[in-house]
Amino acid sequence: MTDRTPPGLSTCAIHGHSIQDAHGSPHLPVYDTTTFAFPSTAALLDVINGQQPGSLYTRYGLNLSIFAIEETLANLEGAEAAWSFCSGMAAESALFLTHGREGIICVGDVYGGTLELLANQLPLLGIKTDFILGSELGQLDTLLAAGAKLVFFETPANPTLEVLDIRAIAAQAHAHGARVAVDNTFASPVNQRPLELGADFVVHSATKYLGGHSDLTAGALMGSKELLQPVWDWRKNLGSTIAPATASLLARSLRTLVVRVRQHNESAQQIAEAMTRHPKVSRVYFPGLPSFPGHALAKDQMYGFGGMLTIEIAGTGADATRVADRLKLFTLAPSLGGVESLVTQPCTTTHHGLTAAERTRRGISDAMLRLSVGLEDTADLIADLEQALG
Ligand SMILES: Cc1ncc(COP(=O)(O)O)c(C=O)c1O
Repeated sequence: MTDRTPPGLSTCAIHGHSIQDAHGSPHLPVYDTTTFAFPSTAALLDVINGQQPGSLYTRYGLNLSIFAIEETLANLEGAEAAWSFCSGMAAESALFLTHGREGIICVGDVYGGTLELLANQLPLLGIKTDFILGSELGQLDTLLAAGAKLVFFETPANPTLEVLDIRAIAAQAHAHGARVAVDNTFASPVNQRPLELGADFVVHSATKYLGGHSDLTAGALMGSKELLQPVWDWRKNLGSTIAPATASLLARSLRTLVVRVRQHNESAQQIAEAMTRHPKVSRVYFPGLPSFPGHALAKDQMYGFGGMLTIEIAGTGADATRVADRLKLFTLAPSLGGVESLVTQPCTTTHHGLTAAERTRRGISDAMLRLSVGLEDTADLIADLEQALG
């Protein structure tokens, strides 16, 4: 695994945009304003007609705080452009409505909200959506031949941490003239940059690792200028732009993204190894374990294995619930990517909406607990798991 050549990711995270503050502040102030004044109608028309770049109206995303965060987000993923949104689901909705109208193929496990949007809402608008498991990729060619133009997946996926081959799926989709979008929320750009591997879009719930402190809700979409340009109108008219104050808070958080994620990775690796040795844990799902089925692929396409892992309790769903309820440092909450460790039982939260049979088909057992490893001392987190398991 190698990281990218200069400017490195930490430098980008800290100096990721070119916008200068007129008064010399090293941090861009929050432009908490809905609109911007112009010296003349001619100057106003220049911005409206796109002849001059400039701030205009915040819902359009034409606001200096938003320009700054988008330039930084694009740099982090090595993208030509990025749009920021008021949530991860807003970013996905705008992507699907712009580029998914000819059909969307969803591969593997995805976040429950994404699944609902694809399965329940988009078909109401006449958008055809197909779902295949990672083990059913043999069907991808047939589905692509039927005309779908967007393939969407998460890797590593929730909650099995299944690793999908970005290069191979992108090559297959491109051969049919389709585009590929990867939800990179679990990995973050520190651990994986799907555009380098052939994906056309990267989508993020910035609510998670990018925000990193469980105190903001935001989303991002990265890709080429050409492919992102039409998304801009959808975002503008759906009104799903990020708020300037959130953009500024996100920019503050991104400055520590690299050090945070590296520590999440290291701690998760140690916890995963400790859990493999625990007699009350029957299985550990973590890409950093050499015994994990996706390990070799993760080593090839990722720069780090991430801070998410899932353990399966040697027992029933009720036993797993008892362990979750007894944890003290791991907070019982359905999110991830923050400085504090969180635990969730997928069958009661993220995958509660699926039938028991569908969860079984997807390899999601009731005895699973998904851990988002935070930045507390690793020894304390292991001790917390041991007391809860004991
Ligand atoms: C992998 C993943 N993608 C997308 C989303 C949606 O993000 P948001 O809650 O910011 O809308 C989530 C939320 O949990 C997620 O876990």
